[in-house]
Amino acid sequence: MVLKKKTNIMIKKIFIKTFGCQMNEYDSKRILDTVRKIGFEKTEKYEDANCYLLNTCHIRDKAKEKVYHEIGRVKKFFRFKKKPIIIVAGCVAQAENREMLKREPYIDIVIGPQAYHKINDTILNYSKNKKKEEETDFDTISKFNYLSKIKNKDSKVSSFLTIQEGCDKFCHFCVVPYTRGPEYSRPFSQIINEVKELIQSGTKEIILLGQNVNAYSYKEQNKEFRLSDLILELEKFTGLERIRYTTSHPRDMTEDLINVYKKSKKLMPLVHLPVQSGSNKILQLMNRKHTIEEYLKICKKLKNINPSIEFSSDFIIGYPQEEEEDFKDTLRLIKSIKFINSYSFIFSPRPGTMAADLNLVDKKKSQERLEIIQKQLFKNQINKNKSLEKKIINVLIENKMKDEIKLFGRTEHMTPVIIDGNIENIGKIVPVEISGSSQTSLFGKIKQDYNQKVA
Ligand code: SAM
Ligand code: SF4
Ligand code: F3S
Repeated sequence: MVLKKKTNIMIKKIFIKTFGCQMNEYDSKRILDTVRKIGFEKTEKYEDANCYLLNTCHIRDKAKEKVYHEIGRVKKFFRFKKKPIIIVAGCVAQAENREMLKREPYIDIVIGPQAYHKINDTILNYSKNKKKEEETDFDTISKFNYLSKIKNKDSKVSSFLTIQEGCDKFCHFCVVPYTRGPEYSRPFSQIINEVKELIQSGTKEIILLGQNVNAYSYKEQNKEFRLSDLILELEKFTGLERIRYTTSHPRDMTEDLINVYKKSKKLMPLVHLPVQSGSNKILQLMNRKHTIEEYLKICKKLKNINPSIEFSSDFIIGYPQEEEEDFKDTLRLIKSIKFINSYSFIFSPRPGTMAADLNLVDKKKSQERLEIIQKQLFKNQINKNKSLEKKIINVLIENKMKDEIKLFGRTEHMTPVIIDGNIENIGKIVPVEISGSSQTSLFGKIKQDYNQKVA
């Protein structure tokens, strides 16, 4: 429905559906900030949309089919109604580009992740000429220059902030270097300005994002700014309580970054460090460019600095040529590091990557291995959560739960906590007495006596 404001500006509604990683979530929010400039407002109901945007992910199988399926559903709903403008954005849009317009004529605009600065022009052009639009150039500098002039309107307690995009590492299984383009680091001052905007809007925790966030490197006047410099700069901001970053590559876990854990009080003690496999043979076949010994050394250094640091990771199970011994190496690694909150998936061949046509491990075998791995990962999580029962821990309260009664927050290790307490605590770090736990969450109530020592 198109409403008319008193000012005579047409208000149009955009519905955005987001798949994939946190960077897509950040992008969707920035797309919304951008299209507001041409009169769009967000709707949670796709039935009301004048514009329907799918922000897509290409990381695993059937991604493309999911998009066509979704479009088919929308097409069916709008069969006898005025059609919304259909936009496909994100990594499938980048990978498939013009082909999408040919295969599904219901799609009007295809726009890749490094072309979002052009989204308003594409919508306006399409509205005027009804000519299909495709924008898939890698123009990351222009994108961030443009977006940095549009206020980040995120007003959440915990906010994402992309500081780095793209990847030059070319792991043999991964589409990211093709869908997000080469590594690019945003200017230091641009990031600081956006941090200020977020803090002004009530953000207490910033999660710095990048496909290889710890490869962040911005050079200005002969000085190089690294992720470690950025964290130490953010540390100075009053009002900002917690800092996190994701996703990291073990190769870029440099000494300066490791040493920040000695200096920073706001950097949280959960390190998400994808390892993919516990076998050096598989790591080499994957082109990961690091060994298990190097990985373990990083974990040890971090633990020596702060024993409360925990690790989470990503695992690919059933990579081509993974044998029983390789799989056991992965299982051994999971048992020794005791990873919490990790992601594990069966290898999914991606078109255009080096591993696309390799001989696959038997499907049933891969499934069995995945189940064993996940059982161990869940066990680690259950044990960790159980060990926190009856303890008092610091929780950043983020919002009310959907039931409107309980509060939702997270521990320093990112574990969700469901809490009995007053809404006045939203945005605060409060001590919570943990009374129960499940595999994924903790349950508790806010401790009245704030001065009591916390775990
Ligand atoms: N840059 C990060 C790193 O180096 O580990 C990972 C970013 S990637 C967007 C997120 C995760 O997706 C990877 O860590 C990997 O486990 C998973 N992934 C990527 N390609 C995959 C594939 N073809 N099959 C299964 N999982 C995949
Ligand atoms: Fe993909 Fe990460 Fe490897 Fe880059 S480093 S190719 S994003 S898995
Ligand atoms: Fe998916 Fe692209 Fe992120 S492929 S995981 S949305 S970088």
